Amino acid sequence: MNSEIEKYGNDILQDAEYNTLRNFVQHKHSNTYKHCVSVADKCIRIADRLHLKIDKSTMVRGSLLHDYYLYDWHIERTHFHGFTHPKLALENAGRRFTLNKREREIIKKHMWPLTVIPPLCLEAWIIVLADKIVTVNEVLGRI
Ligand SMILES: [Fe+2]
Ligand SMILES: [Fe+2]
Repeated sequence: MNSEIEKYGNDILQDAEYNTLRNFVQHKHSNTYKHCVSVADKCIRIADRLHLKIDKSTMVRGSLLHDYYLYDWHIERTHFHGFTHPKLALENAGRRFTLNKREREIIKKHMWPLTVIPPLCLEAWIIVLADKIVTVNEVLGRI
């Protein structure tokens, strides 16, 4: 695992409830825990490659919590999952961790354009992109 993910998100990664994300299938062979770590890793690579001026702690923590909805979307709520899970993830994450404004923005908008209003910070835009790249790779069985 990228050491910067542990540096900024260690309390999240160690959290008992957060670790239940390992029980939920994300796409094919990936569970939601692995998916979130992969998205955080992809975000760091994008930001570093493009030399983007971002708040790395916010970007990593937002990535780790963006899908903190705590259910298996293959079994429950399948019809509207894409639209509804950002709000639920935000509620769950806010109950468990202290979130700053940008972290809330990241979680709330990560499914853009499904969540019609576009993200308002660069960190959130990077996660929108990274989440889609990781998802495609998971669906194709590359992760
Ligand atoms: Fe999501
Ligand atoms: Fe995701």
